[in-house]
Amino acid sequence: MNLTERDRQYLWHPYTQHKTAAPPIAIARGKEALLWDENNKEYIDAIASWWVNPFGHSNTFIADAIYKQLTTLEHVLFGGFTHEPAIVLSEKLMEILPNNQKKIFFSDNGSTAVEVAIKVALQYFFNKGEKRTTIVAFENAFHGDTFAAMAASGISFYTQAFQGMFIDVVRIPVPVKGQEEMSYIALQEAIKNNNVAGFIFEPLVQGAAGMVMFEPEALDELIKICQENKVLTIADEVMTGFGKTGKNFACDYLQTQPDMICLSKALTGGTIPMAITTFTQDLFDAFYSDDINKALFHGHTFTANPTGCAAALASLELLQTDAMQANILRVNQSHLAFQKQIESHPKVKTARVLGVIFALEIKTESSASYYGTLRNKLYDFFIENGVILRPVGNIVYILPPYIITTKQLEKVYHVVEKALEIV
Ligand SMILES: Cc1ncc(COP(=O)(O)O)c(C=O)c1O
Repeated sequence: MNLTERDRQYLWHPYTQHKTAAPPIAIARGKEALLWDENNKEYIDAIASWWVNPFGHSNTFIADAIYKQLTTLEHVLFGGFTHEPAIVLSEKLMEILPNNQKKIFFSDNGSTAVEVAIKVALQYFFNKGEKRTTIVAFENAFHGDTFAAMAASGISFYTQAFQGMFIDVVRIPVPVKGQEEMSYIALQEAIKNNNVAGFIFEPLVQGAAGMVMFEPEALDELIKICQENKVLTIADEVMTGFGKTGKNFACDYLQTQPDMICLSKALTGGTIPMAITTFTQDLFDAFYSDDINKALFHGHTFTANPTGCAAALASLELLQTDAMQANILRVNQSHLAFQKQIESHPKVKTARVLGVIFALEIKTESSASYYGTLRNKLYDFFIENGVILRPVGNIVYILPPYIITTKQLEKVYHVVEKALEIV
């Protein structure tokens, strides 16, 4: 039996209807932007394995840092103990985070980073004796699969089985071009009519919705409305963080900074699962008390895992090199050139770019469903042609590792262009 056949015996995959899904492809190895399956077929990883891998697969610089840490101190509990990798990582992150961010809390993945932020928003008001229990979130948001993160997420088929079991969430329109005013008004109404504790958003780009983009000025306005009403703001930078938008964080495009930032995915360069939620001093202070009950009673066994911290430190070092910043710029410029070339294609409705993120929307008669026929046809075509892309309905997006070569990127564009012929 090959790996794909053996997989079927015991494994249950994410976001997969096993009755109808094609068998998974068994990947045997990876190097830089390339992956090879068990039959040695080569693929370009044009989505950086769900947006986690900016510096390439099997990166030896990160691997060496991990090995060194594993043979020094692989793990120690973070309750009552601390260690140098976590301390140095907090210091390094403070150098690049928006300067209102003063405290760092570790967890394991994007969903838990969001879970922590939402719990902090709710407990902040609880600790102050104020009843605020509603969270505001965007339509079609995606914040993860744990319960508070699901509640904040607006893509219904992820969450429909659990409706009625969530914390209170009010949804507002995304301030895409032409819809800004509607979004501001909806936020003001939501705040007026509910006890709103916090507003959570994916800054500038909604990833899972299909790379839906909006302008920093609009987000600044929404944050300002929250600040005027003492509503806490949570930037979920799980996807956008660490260079994806062309700056370290999407929040770097803003004039007004959020109260909390959620980070994961590229944090460890796609190696070890780890997440961070960052906070202002004011938030930390609301939990700082002689009263034990005011503490944040949240934690995970692997909180601040030293090996994860070592991987994150190596990743940060790579991100900050001139060569990596030049890669980000190179990918961005290639995307912009491809956008210019493709946006007038008769089958393209719109094409958009921010940083290393490219997305195009294919013209369809009716709205294409998330995992519908069109999406599957496109996905299969890309795989056949050795490119890993996971379209969202009729939206094809590219979010490659920053180190992807220009030649590989050209192949990705070429395959995307060819795909327009089969739809
Ligand atoms: C913006 C955003 N937040 C949260 C998550 C959840 O992260 P994880 O899958 O690591 O739980 C994702 C995952 O794609 C995401 O894009």
